[in-house]
Amino acid sequence: MGHRDVSGDDVIRSTVGPTRAARGAQVAVMVDGVERVAWLGEPLIEVINRAQVPLAQVCYHEQLGPIQSCDTCAVEIDGVVGRACGTPVRAGMVVRTQTNAARAAQRDAYDRIVANHDLYCTVCDNNNGNCTVHNTLGVLGIDHQNRPFQPKGYEKDMSNPFYRYDPDQCILCGRCVEACQNVQVNETLSINWEAEQPRVLWDGGKPIGESSCVSCGHCVTVCPCNALQEKSMLGEAGLFTGIPLPVWNAAIDVVKGVEASSGLKPIMNVSEIESAARDRYIKKTKTVCTYCGVGCSFDVWTDERHILKVEPGLGHANGISTCVKGKFGWDYVNSEDRLTSPLIRDGDRFREATWDEALALVARRFTEIRAAKGPDALAFVASSKASNEEAFLVQKFARQVIGTNNVDNCSRYCQSPASKGLSLTVGIGGDSGTIKDIENASLVITVGSNTAESHPVLATRVKRAQKLGRTRVIVFDIREHELARRADEFHRPNPGTDFVWLAAVSKFILDNGLEDKTFLAERVNGLEEFRASIEEYTLERAERETGLSAATLEALARRIAGEERVCILWAMGVTQQCGGTDTSAAISNLLLITGNYGRLGTGAYPLRGHNNVQGASDMGAQPDAVSGYQKIDDPLAVQRHEREWGIQLRPERGLDNTQMIDAAIRGELRAMWITGEEMSLTDANANHLQEGFEALEFLVVQDLYFTNTARFADVVLPAAASLEKEGTFTNTERRIQRLYEVMPPLKGTKPDWQIYTAVAERMGHRWGYTHPAQIMDEIARLTPFFAGVSYDRLEGYDTLCWPVAEDGTDQPLLYTERFNFPDGKARLYAGEYRPRQQAPNDQFDLHLNSGRMLEHFHEGNMTFRVAGIAAKAPDAFVEISPELAAERNIQSGHWARLVSEHGAVRLQVLVTGRVSGNQVFVPMNARKAEDAVNRLTGSQGDATTNTPAYKDTRVRLDVLHDVGPNPLPATNPRWGHPTPQDGVEVERKWARPDYVFPGGLLPMHGDSLNARADALGADD
Ligand code: SF4
Ligand code: SF4
Ligand code: SF4
Ligand code: FES
Repeated sequence: MGHRDVSGDDVIRSTVGPTRAARGAQVAVMVDGVERVAWLGEPLIEVINRAQVPLAQVCYHEQLGPIQSCDTCAVEIDGVVGRACGTPVRAGMVVRTQTNAARAAQRDAYDRIVANHDLYCTVCDNNNGNCTVHNTLGVLGIDHQNRPFQPKGYEKDMSNPFYRYDPDQCILCGRCVEACQNVQVNETLSINWEAEQPRVLWDGGKPIGESSCVSCGHCVTVCPCNALQEKSMLGEAGLFTGIPLPVWNAAIDVVKGVEASSGLKPIMNVSEIESAARDRYIKKTKTVCTYCGVGCSFDVWTDERHILKVEPGLGHANGISTCVKGKFGWDYVNSEDRLTSPLIRDGDRFREATWDEALALVARRFTEIRAAKGPDALAFVASSKASNEEAFLVQKFARQVIGTNNVDNCSRYCQSPASKGLSLTVGIGGDSGTIKDIENASLVITVGSNTAESHPVLATRVKRAQKLGRTRVIVFDIREHELARRADEFHRPNPGTDFVWLAAVSKFILDNGLEDKTFLAERVNGLEEFRASIEEYTLERAERETGLSAATLEALARRIAGEERVCILWAMGVTQQCGGTDTSAAISNLLLITGNYGRLGTGAYPLRGHNNVQGASDMGAQPDAVSGYQKIDDPLAVQRHEREWGIQLRPERGLDNTQMIDAAIRGELRAMWITGEEMSLTDANANHLQEGFEALEFLVVQDLYFTNTARFADVVLPAAASLEKEGTFTNTERRIQRLYEVMPPLKGTKPDWQIYTAVAERMGHRWGYTHPAQIMDEIARLTPFFAGVSYDRLEGYDTLCWPVAEDGTDQPLLYTERFNFPDGKARLYAGEYRPRQQAPNDQFDLHLNSGRMLEHFHEGNMTFRVAGIAAKAPDAFVEISPELAAERNIQSGHWARLVSEHGAVRLQVLVTGRVSGNQVFVPMNARKAEDAVNRLTGSQGDATTNTPAYKDTRVRLDVLHDVGPNPLPATNPRWGHPTPQDGVEVERKWARPDYVFPGGLLPMHGDSLNARADALGADD
């Protein structure tokens, strides 16, 4: 496929949206007689829009760029009528938007569009003030349609669970195609421009539900009318739109009949009144996605508790983008399984209790256990799905109310090694830049990250940059996932050997003088120790250990050293190993020796898994640090907390998640309070965990549902969902974003922050919070990194990337001047290779890999409760390679038992080329707790952080007799066949014999077009 560069410029400078072209030199242009500032090469339409000159523009969307399919933006440019969106600014242009010729062309273009679209706005669910087709009618003041609407003769496509396509409403603008091809880069959509009656096609002509469509919703979001519509809107959004079908059809006929006799204006007036009336019951609330760490934000439209739709557009991390979970994955909030009353254990059963009774019991038991066994007999797990304010309160509760440092969060299961590796080398355990930097890299390397499935929207930016020819992508992974298939280079090192190739590449760079000497001399310490530490990692040794050839590694070293801007992204393939910290530091070392920190388009990006896993650690839900990574024995932190909380922080490190379970089994830990974590399935060695929970005297679990972890609880507290509360989340970019209450908490549930506050009060600490903003103010007072953070500064879509100075200045890109050490210099880290401990042997001959699926989140407690998602990906399975399938004589659908030293699970086999040889893969999500992959994983972990080495597991596969259907249904997008192309390919439309530029031929000089317009009687 051909690559193209829409801007011709080297660097994208946008923060919102992926596509805004770089600006050239500042020039002046005349628009309707007024001089306007413009930038050379930007689309002329941007100048007109900045000047707020009303101009029709149906296909233009600033985050998609010029598509040039609708022709409604026709203006006179230096006397020639042309498209304002498709014309790059030149110095001194004279532009007139309202000449006879321009207006005639605009109206003619619109008339052609609505010949494709049945204008029944009054009874249309999309008519909510943001329908571009409807609104353009007003901009152009059109009263009559000259070309009557012509049905296209295709059926509506209802086959996707989340949205439908109505060809008869489709104006063929191509926005959806551009979004799918070049923003989401799933490459499902095209338009068959050469057909007698063109339409949008999925995989070249498949039903949507059988295509490669991943239901990301980009196309639906950008569709300027109701051709693509969320099913959750249908019959729900308008005053008259829920009426039964025959009546609805009759209503359309009435609407059309009136139009024929009285023109469009009266109809449009009624529809505008109706649309305005919708504002009284449709609520639009900004929130932040509750799934992964990309941090997409969007408005949620609701009618009471019914979610009408999710509308992205203004989010700093995502613009118009979402994945299936953020756009459509919200049924779980209204699931019938939601807990609506506290539960108290009564022998082998649970009984419903009042909040008063449950909270009093929690306070009493915590008080008793602390009195009897001391504060360290209690431990607390904060939720990385809950807000910053809530994570902060969990550690405040542990430290102030109880007096223990036994507090942690689920970053222990994934991110701690990356944070540690970065803290050791550059001083801050977070992404060093933002998604904008990743978009601007000339080389993106991913290591052990299934980015397209685990961080879908972030991956779109990588895929897009690569497709447009801006970025080269190199993937290191043991599994050939989507990004691996798309990569310019895909390397499959042996499991757990990333440290070795990183060390060897670093050594080659240093040995051959390819390092960035100036950067090293001025900004980095520890070069000689580092050089000595990697002395043994020759390319030949690396070849033996990793399976990657010395030639490959040498080419890689030369490429990295020669690149202008390198970003390295990594995830659980690196961190969930015995040497997760050392390998993370090795990545950082490589970036340091090549000078790839502190500049646009460079840096280290450990991609955060949960929506607020970054925030949970930032807020001090860790055993050795309070908020902002201040160590518990740091005298300044101790002082601040003494002043604010009236207590002395204890200087001894507390227990982390993994140690808590061991301490429970030893009888030292007696009580735990776990918020919003399905720990019993997500921690490694689930059977060991179960033993730990059973050993506890008292366990409190706080969640949306009666989870598997709740089965072990003594008290279960029903929590509110993220849509039901206010707060802030911090995404993988360190970007703090506010979420607002979309709907009130489900009756019987409470936001976590209120629950902690209530228990604290019952234990003698009157915190007095009435709103999360007060908690954020306290965080700001206690945390230098958050000094300037306040709800006012985070209003609406405003965001801040920490560290935030007191005056509100934030730092999207770190290390531009200094690294976060006293002398401002980075530290190369002399790490150690820690080979895997569980390599396959005679008894357990397969290597087990586990990870996320696009459709599901983590263990699946939320996403299995979204009917459309559950239909597309109904359960877990075990992926095996074609080689292994042939050797064992099995096919997809066979049932098998996977057995490890720690447990066994029963799963269906899926044979795919994504895995190779004796490696198998099992998704983390499982419908049945007994088949969760962590029944198989063991207790070994990262030497520095105790993060379990989930990816270091060996198993055997026992084939069972049962055979069922393929575990991945035919409607799953992985079976689809995308149709990549450069975009809408509007030139093919222009090449149609029946295409003429509206009002005449293009380009046409204004004079002749004006004459034609005069003849048609257009107004000036
Ligand atoms: S993948 Fe599907 S939902 Fe996403 S833009 Fe393409 S067609 Fe639309
Ligand atoms: S379906 Fe696509 S081509 Fe049709 S109107 Fe919507 S965005 Fe435009
Ligand atoms: S799951 Fe992640 S990528 Fe998907 S919408 Fe939510 S934040 Fe964005
Ligand atoms: S807005 Fe310019 S051609 Fe559609």
